[in-house]
Amino acid sequence: MEYTIKTIGIFTSGGDAPGMNAAIRSVTRAAIFNNIKVKAIYRGYKGLIDNEIVDFKTQDVSNIVQQGGTILKSARCKEFMTKEGRQKAYENMKSHEIDALVAIGGDGTFTGARIFAQEFNIPIIGIPGTIDNDLYGTDYTLGYDTALNTIMNAVDKIRDTASSHERLFFIEVMGRDAGFLALNSAVASGAEAAIVPERETQVDQLAELIQNGFRKTKNSSIVIVAESEVTGGAAGLAERMRTEYPNYDVRVTILGHIQRGGSPTAQDRILASRMGVAAIDALLDEQRSIMIGVVNNKIVHVPFTKAIKDDKPINEDLLGVLQILSI
Ligand code: F6P
Repeated sequence: MEYTIKTIGIFTSGGDAPGMNAAIRSVTRAAIFNNIKVKAIYRGYKGLIDNEIVDFKTQDVSNIVQQGGTILKSARCKEFMTKEGRQKAYENMKSHEIDALVAIGGDGTFTGARIFAQEFNIPIIGIPGTIDNDLYGTDYTLGYDTALNTIMNAVDKIRDTASSHERLFFIEVMGRDAGFLALNSAVASGAEAAIVPERETQVDQLAELIQNGFRKTKNSSIVIVAESEVTGGAAGLAERMRTEYPNYDVRVTILGHIQRGGSPTAQDRILASRMGVAAIDALLDEQRSIMIGVVNNKIVHVPFTKAIKDDKPINEDLLGVLQILSI
């Protein structure tokens, strides 16, 4: 059966991430370059259900490569989790003559995409957009590099106070259930330790680690803590330290949504541009239900099922590096 894609729909969903706009620009222009029409869907799956769908031309994506956030807006949509919601979304898609979708987002986005694609036999290609870098099958997700640099710059500033006042800082970073941001930002900013969900035992070694640091050469310590309900995050650990070691001058900083915003780094813009073109290439190649990834600087295709379900390991070597360098 011959299958020609004449029109695609594009949307962003889940948490916004720097580089999403660069990806929207790339997908739009790569599609138009290949004589495919583009429909922009606002507010992710919600917009698909509510019919917030408009034509996109090449000029609609001018001057956005440098912007953080997403011009298409983003939302989390409960209705799409129901069969009725997805039926409405499908009917709107058909009324706009959309043949295929490009979804930019994280695991929640691809979980929805996988079900939708299967139910209605729709080609869907995913582009990984999340600061958490927690999708299996790709070395990097869009927004991760920018968030990492934002954290590093913030920690550099906090170090001035930590050092001047000889304090112990617990700095909490995002990552949902993954420690990529925490571990890598700890190494990049010369922090004394990182507490990551992948290695909960680190918590038990914390006191020893900090004591060693203070006792030897250091007058300040910074511990990067991945957000976590298990450890209680930075506030939880700080509380524990205060009780067990009341002589330390402990402070807590939660970086929060500052990590999600801002102009994307060159790396994120280039990655987004490559992935956008690769998404259209994949559709032309009759691929479906896959996420575009990058491994060893090469574009790869990862089935949604793997991208969502398989665990992406953190770099164990980097934990060792951090430990060695924190003496
Ligand atoms: O997935 C991106 C992320 O920023 C996570 O790191 C964080 O746990 C979550 O989203 C926060 O979500 P919200 O902005 O909905 O509070």
